[in-house]
Amino acid sequence: MNPMRGRFITLEGIDGAGKSTHMPSLVQWVTQRGHQVLQTREPGGTELGEALRQLLLHQDMQVDTETLLLFAARAELVQAVIRPALERGQWVVSDRFTDASFAYQQGGRGVARAHLEFLENWVVEGLQPDLTFLFDLDPVTAQQRVQRASAKPDRFEQQGGTFFERVRAAYLERATRHASRFCVLPAAQPATHLWSLIEQQLSRRFP
Ligand code: TYD
Repeated sequence: MNPMRGRFITLEGIDGAGKSTHMPSLVQWVTQRGHQVLQTREPGGTELGEALRQLLLHQDMQVDTETLLLFAARAELVQAVIRPALERGQWVVSDRFTDASFAYQQGGRGVARAHLEFLENWVVEGLQPDLTFLFDLDPVTAQQRVQRASAKPDRFEQQGGTFFERVRAAYLERATRHASRFCVLPAAQPATHLWSLIEQQLSRRFP
């Protein structure tokens, strides 16, 4: 790895787990250590990606179409934004990344893991976060939080039944497979406690 390369940190979790709340503090933590930081999100993060996000969140489509559009947005983001930033030495923090596709599209929608691995190899070419915070929360509590927060739930937030149970399980399985870069957080805890856990991890991993 290029020794000047920046670090790549991602936030993951089911809808309503509360990951986005911690984004500003995370950006501030990195900035205070003298690094330039680029904040982004998935799907989105580029002009094209944000246009695809609108479709992904609000337009009915087939599961394969959804998967391919997510990876199309990711190709644009990785190749035009994330890789160049890391090469310049900037740190990148992203609200979701490829782990979300293994959780939502494989776990939630049932897309074959082999398809996702093929797309991941093609589009992401081995780029993995250095650290991933997984906000782990039971789907019932998460759903209550979503109902309080969004007046008009998007296509994913509208999923019922066992969808979020499967997404959560797939996230946890991914965390086990990639244990060295994952930090699983008990997202039912108060935000201040969660931030102190996050800060501990950051200090330990990036001394
Ligand atoms: P989200 O971070 O929840 O946006 P917001 O906090 O504004 O609601 O992301 C939007 C949705 O996209 C979320 O429900 C999960 C879904 N998603 C996937 O299904 N697969 C993916 O690979 C990504 C990146 C997101």
